[in-house]
Amino acid sequence: MSEKKNKKIIIFASGDGTNAEQIIKYFKKNKSINVQYILTNKHDAGVLERAKKHEIPAFYYNNEAFEKKIVLEFLISVNPDLIVLAGFIRKIADIIISKFPNKIINIHPALLPSHGGKGMYGSEVHKSVIKSNDSTTGITIHFVNSDYDKGKIILQKSIKVDSKDTPNSLSKRVQKLEHKYYPLVIEKLLNEQSR
Ligand code: GAR
Repeated sequence: MSEKKNKKIIIFASGDGTNAEQIIKYFKKNKSINVQYILTNKHDAGVLERAKKHEIPAFYYNNEAFEKKIVLEFLISVNPDLIVLAGFIRKIADIIISKFPNKIINIHPALLPSHGGKGMYGSEVHKSVIKSNDSTTGITIHFVNSDYDKGKIILQKSIKVDSKDTPNSLSKRVQKLEHKYYPLVIEKLLNEQSR
């Protein structure tokens, strides 16, 4: 009988890292799926502290390294089964996308295709939802392709927007959905790869 291969996740994050931490916690006791590394393009990103707390190796690379060959070569050497963007604010370079087709996913804090694209990150997204008087918002988990925020959608979950909502209150409710569903989607995708 062939032995079950260990699945490797690499997380890219630029911010606080609450999603990254949730993913780390979810897979901590999983024997066949590992969060191997965290990569960030912000030297002071909160995610670095969270990675340290859970003893996950985390590395800072500047934006140029993410675009040129340095990060690509690191990724090739690790050969991850899934690259998970969790609040990563930079467009992923085409050289990385073409090397890892269907192996890069992102989470967006709104219902794409609305409120996506360049500059739509974190609270900007929630401000845009409120400004547009949308009655619902939510999360979108999607594959990453060279078209920003336009890759194939894997899962969307929605919540109602209340007239009293602020960017902050929306962010809290949307974050709850993110923390619940992102690890589940990652697990499902990795299990499907094994079949
Ligand atoms: C998350 O809400 C994520 O959906 C969003 O950044 C936040 C990161 O939070 N990503 C985007 O807006 C991508 N366009 P975290 O650092 O606490 O996980």
